[in-house]
Amino acid sequence: MTRDWHNDWYLHLRTAGPRMSDKQLEATARLATVLLCGEQSAVRIFAAEVRRGRAPAKALNALHAIEQDEHLHESALLDYCEYLPKLEDLHALKRHAQRFFAKLGRIEDMARHFGQISHLDSVVCRIMWHIERSAIDKASPLRLIATQIKKDEARHVAVSRRYAASLGLTSGRRGEDGIQVAERMVEMLGPLADSFEAVGVDSDRLFANIQKSKLP
Ligand SMILES: [Fe+2]
Ligand SMILES: [Fe+2]
Repeated sequence: MTRDWHNDWYLHLRTAGPRMSDKQLEATARLATVLLCGEQSAVRIFAAEVRRGRAPAKALNALHAIEQDEHLHESALLDYCEYLPKLEDLHALKRHAQRFFAKLGRIEDMARHFGQISHLDSVVCRIMWHIERSAIDKASPLRLIATQIKKDEARHVAVSRRYAASLGLTSGRRGEDGIQVAERMVEMLGPLADSFEAVGVDSDRLFANIQKSKLP
């Protein structure tokens, strides 16, 4: 998929539908709810940093490109949710995820903040890697979007990491924060273990992989 992948993907979603069993649809509704909170929080963070305008021109362009990517991720997940069941527990899950992202955003030190975001994106890459290899139909829009998000987030990891370093983040601090982000993410994703299993992702393996996702 190219940069304007969203149109192609949306067309595929409309023609193919989610291509899943009812059980997988329910699990995906829960997973998408939490992932969506992450995308929406990323849109806010990058939009705010672009508006602040403190970054040099080249970095500002890269941050703006991330903001646009996150908008597309958000739109795609919102489109996808239209096809998923509106379960009673989605509201509580959304509040749970929103609290997690709000807490993460409460840090004053912007170097650490962007360092944490790069760790977070690296965790998202791992999640998408597992979804790509799940039991879901290969042509399912969920698998396709996982591939796209993984590709984009890998780029974001590098940009946020560079930006954090330019703001003065030391590698020692970066490493410590990475351990914490990975641990907190596993804790936040705990209630989704059954949903991961329902789409054929081994949740123990996924969580162990997240713990390993600390970047050097
Ligand atoms: Fe994203
Ligand atoms: Fe991102």
